[in-house]
Amino acid sequence: MTLDTTWLNQQRVFFEEGQSLWLFGYGSLIWKAEFAYHERRPARIEGWARRFWQGSHDHRGTPKSPGRVVTLVESPGTTCQGMAYRIDADTLGPLDIREKNGYLRERVMLHFAEGEHAEGLIYLATKENAAFLGDAPLEDMARQIATASGPSGSNRDYLLNLTTALEDLGAEDKHVFALARQVRELEGNR
Ligand code: SIN
Repeated sequence: MTLDTTWLNQQRVFFEEGQSLWLFGYGSLIWKAEFAYHERRPARIEGWARRFWQGSHDHRGTPKSPGRVVTLVESPGTTCQGMAYRIDADTLGPLDIREKNGYLRERVMLHFAEGEHAEGLIYLATKENAAFLGDAPLEDMARQIATASGPSGSNRDYLLNLTTALEDLGAEDKHVFALARQVRELEGNR
């Protein structure tokens, strides 16, 4: 797979043009929604775990010194909380560019409070994409995040903004919270 997934995503049309659709954000799309939407609602998806396993060469790192950002890995029994946005289909154009470093549009079932659900889209970076980094010891990931930075800002801010956004949602995420603690500890020791 090429590094830039923009073109691939433009072939992945799962919803009718001219209709609104739900997009589920689980990373920067929770706290950095720089796109137009009709409404936004906290939501969750089932069977997926959020992991800092995706390389960022374009936003929170550079090709020489990539950062780490989140993707989702299949994990039966795990709930991933995030934010759902009802958007127009043509809003996906700029989002494909923003998420071009390995993420592909995928369909998932979104669950809202009070038992409501709807099919929606996520941007998913699987282990098949060229920017995938995968798992590493927590300390190594924290050190990488504490030092990387790219055109969208520091990798550390990405992690800590996500942590705050998840806390605001009342979401549990051991992986993200442990990384945030580790990064803060590293900063305290500098
Ligand atoms: C997302 O937020 O849903 C995708 C990953 C990211 O852009 O941080």
